Amino acid sequence: MSLTRRCHAYLEELHRCGRGRRLATPAGRDFSSNDYLGYAQLAAATTAALARSGTASRLLRGHHPLWEEVETALARWHGAEAALVFTSGYTANEGLLSTVIEPSDWVASDSANHASIIDGLRLARAERFIFRHNDVNHLAEGLAAAAAQRGTRRELFIVTESLFGMDGDRAPLADIVALAQQYGAHVIIDEAHATGCFGPRGSGLVDHLGLRSGVLATVHTGGKALAVPGAYVVGGNLLRELLVNRCRHFIYTTALPPQVAAWWLETLQRAEADVAGRDRLCANALRFRRQLAAAGISAGGEDYIVPIVVGDDRAALGAATIVQRAGFDVRAIRPPTVPSGTARLRVSIHADHEQGELAALASVCAEALATIVPPLGGANIAPSFSYDPSSHG
Ligand SMILES: Cc1ncc(COP(=O)(O)O)c(C=O)c1O
Repeated sequence: MSLTRRCHAYLEELHRCGRGRRLATPAGRDFSSNDYLGYAQLAAATTAALARSGTASRLLRGHHPLWEEVETALARWHGAEAALVFTSGYTANEGLLSTVIEPSDWVASDSANHASIIDGLRLARAERFIFRHNDVNHLAEGLAAAAAQRGTRRELFIVTESLFGMDGDRAPLADIVALAQQYGAHVIIDEAHATGCFGPRGSGLVDHLGLRSGVLATVHTGGKALAVPGAYVVGGNLLRELLVNRCRHFIYTTALPPQVAAWWLETLQRAEADVAGRDRLCANALRFRRQLAAAGISAGGEDYIVPIVVGDDRAALGAATIVQRAGFDVRAIRPPTVPSGTARLRVSIHADHEQGELAALASVCAEALATIVPPLGGANIAPSFSYDPSSHG
């Protein structure tokens, strides 16, 4: 059974039993929301009509016409059929993956994927294949083996970030999509760090590379470049309907308030038009990377997320302290967020950073790296506990 047929079969069965769900905007005196003390109504009466905050899920009274406007605008931005807003990128990833992927399926996941992807896959309970970071050959090996033992209910999926949040490098998306086509796999891409920043209209790397038709879904958060609360999934109408009907992270949570929807509409307009901001961001990243290289520092990645790997956890903290004392808010990223032995400074370049600031930061980073002496000769001290929230285990 294909994924499309599987989704249709699920939805048809729901509708047959009278359990289908559809989003409807509120109408009539409110006897459905959880506005028990009437505060949301009070806010609506005393300030603006929009002030009525979300006090129910989208499927109950938490829906608002503005969210429909936002989702239509998002779908149009990406040149896709549909979009669906979630309360955060974490829940969007967890919800999407655990809804679409079933225990009988097989899923390949990049070893550097975000914790929300890892947790989504834990919930999905499918067989997992963790491929080495950005290694398409390793992915191809996994796909070939999985395809060879493919049963009728077994769908294959590939999940990756497009721009990796801690490594600053891009996934080889065109190769991944080509492999997926070869093996009949479905691709899901987390665009958290790329949304707003790539492509002539800013809608992300997938659109920039013209790969929209080759992917099942993309996940975008408002919490990074767009600077608005919430997140969304982009895909086909069928996927959206499946999420509305089956995704626990969408169904069983209070909707974001409509004021937030108004922010989204404003932000989308700005982001779509902000070619100059994207150009400045790109130029600043390039400039900073050149300055680091001139100072003898090799940084990972290629865009505006600039990781400078120190190695030892305490050495990374020491380097961050030196940089912070010079007035720059740069943080040390340590395990379990990144693999053991790769603690790093993560520099996030912005469009509005001044040239002088970038030059000063590059030289402070060089000074910090020259100053720190890795404790215990560079050896990391392993923690005595074994819990590792970022591991794929
Ligand atoms: C790659 C990636 N995906 C998802 C998320 C989660 O997004 P949100 O902060 O909206 O929950 C993040 C945030 O750190 C992220 O970096």
